[in-house]
Amino acid sequence: MRVIALDGPAGAGKSTIARLVSLKVGMPFLDTGAMYRGIAFAVLRDGIDQHDCDAVGKLARLTELELEDDALLVDGVDVTSEIRSNDVNAVVSVISAHSPVRSVLRDQQRLWISSHNGGVVEGRDIGTVVFPDAILKVFLTASPLIRAARRVAQSGGDTARVAESIAQRDHLDTTRLDSPLRPAEDSIVLDTSEMTIEQVVEAIARLFEDVELRMK
Ligand code: DC
Repeated sequence: MRVIALDGPAGAGKSTIARLVSLKVGMPFLDTGAMYRGIAFAVLRDGIDQHDCDAVGKLARLTELELEDDALLVDGVDVTSEIRSNDVNAVVSVISAHSPVRSVLRDQQRLWISSHNGGVVEGRDIGTVVFPDAILKVFLTASPLIRAARRVAQSGGDTARVAESIAQRDHLDTTRLDSPLRPAEDSIVLDTSEMTIEQVVEAIARLFEDVELRMK
């Protein structure tokens, strides 16, 4: 399957870059973080205990997620802005550590990609677990301070608080047992701290061209 896997921690610039790469290479874009955020939203909506693995897993199976361009519908309701709230930020890494949730969303991600004939997929475990055969795997990273500053520039807030929330999520995402955040062995690690968005997009597009040439 023609998949570009873009993984990395919060604030590394994945969403912006994945969107631009998808336009440049003419492949659809899948934001898997938005899917985990959709389930986190449903957990808060229904008042379910975020630590109750079985209850959250059951909810993930029953919840309908629809991704349309940049919008996310949860059970038919547009929650595109709600899924970026501090409340969702506070629970999303806990609920995404539950294996039943990961299994449901992994299946949906694979289905989405096969029905779209490939795509640019952004997440934490795309190159390691969801699409281990992706034709290009890039792990985007940047220093914690720069990542916090980027999030503040994007969505506002206090830099120290945002940095703390990112550090907490990094910790949960890298130490969970099921598909922790880490670069795949065959991924290309790009530290974007000192790079502009255009430079990163250009670098990935060039890597993709090389891969396509080699595949011909
Ligand atoms: O990329 P993001 O900040 O929107 O992701 C939100 C959370 O979802 C992140 O803290 C961990 C989880 N996530 C995951 O576990 N696996 C993915 N493939 C994508 C996101």
